[in-house]
Amino acid sequence: MYNIAIISGDGIGNEVMECCEYMLDKLDLNFSFEYGEAGFECFNKNGTTLPQETLKIANKSDAVLFGASTSTPGQPSPIINLRKELNVYANIRPIKSYKGVKCLRDDIDFVIVRENTEGLYSQVEYGDEDKMIAERIITKKASERIAKAAFNLCIKRGQDKVTCVHKSNVLKKTDGVFKESFYNISKQYPQIRTEDYYVDAMAMYLITQPQNFDVIVSSNLFGDILSDESAGLVGGLGLAPSGNIGDHNGLFEPVHGSAPDIAGKNIANPCSMILSASMMLDYLGEWESANDIKNAVEKVIAECKIRTPDLGGNSSTMDVTKAIVKELI
Ligand code: NAI
Ligand code: MG
Repeated sequence: MYNIAIISGDGIGNEVMECCEYMLDKLDLNFSFEYGEAGFECFNKNGTTLPQETLKIANKSDAVLFGASTSTPGQPSPIINLRKELNVYANIRPIKSYKGVKCLRDDIDFVIVRENTEGLYSQVEYGDEDKMIAERIITKKASERIAKAAFNLCIKRGQDKVTCVHKSNVLKKTDGVFKESFYNISKQYPQIRTEDYYVDAMAMYLITQPQNFDVIVSSNLFGDILSDESAGLVGGLGLAPSGNIGDHNGLFEPVHGSAPDIAGKNIANPCSMILSASMMLDYLGEWESANDIKNAVEKVIAECKIRTPDLGGNSSTMDVTKAIVKELI
């Protein structure tokens, strides 16, 4: 029996989570779901975007599934705080070309490993109306930890290169530490090739030679931006899952947000959420189910029959989910 914390959040977060639960219920596994609130609607109701009760549920679960939340003006981001509170320091974002989807190339298969706990996502900003300062902390400890996570993931994926992305020509001290920590840790993995690029050049290389990357490791903001760019190479945010993994917790969520432009229309692509659940099962050691889900999603997408409007179809969120479940059972 797995204890799963379900935090659907706002907008399409609710719609894709409903589908994800529907799919999990059809698996030959035992789950007990506990529900937590977070996000904009939660703030309107409870005066906080991330109640203590939700943190408690997340902390005692075996894994957390998060949908998406709409940002609340003047309030901290629940997902950023949740990642920090659970100390899930490695944000893993796989990017892959799918058959039947218009991708930049058909041989893209890399993963972005984004540092989750520090960098420019400190949410610490201060100053006055003339001058504002945002805090960007980079520590040796977190940089080495994320580098290690990247090298270990490279081995797990059977790939052989890790690319470090930074901006140490300008952010000499902070990104100096990030880059140096990467190369220090790389000495423990002599079988893995290494390289590093400035983030601006990397933004271009992701377009001109995405097939050349295996594992990309970067700090919080750069990793966030590059992962949305990368999702654009392979069919958009509807196909971009992610996992946030620490030493004791795992939190799984689609890369996309609450998509207010399509919320309530039942046309959101559920695949990012469903593929995130597959990453969760992999984390829980349920490798067979994890693989089955991935294969079912790939099959439904490749058939080009039942798909949501973002992929050029006219099926609903639940239609796609049911087609995936049909492949599973
Ligand atoms: P977004 O990711 O919600 O949407 C960007 C574009 O992608 C929109 O055109 C949307 O319709 C489309 N899209 C996203 N997911 C899709 C799906 N599953 N199927 C089909 N199309 C999809 O980003 P946006 O518009 O910048 O932000 C909307 C809200 O979400 C904001 O309040 C933002 O702060 C929040 N947000 C929350 C995140 C989270 O909770 N992890 C992450 C990113 C944004
Ligand atoms: Mg993002």
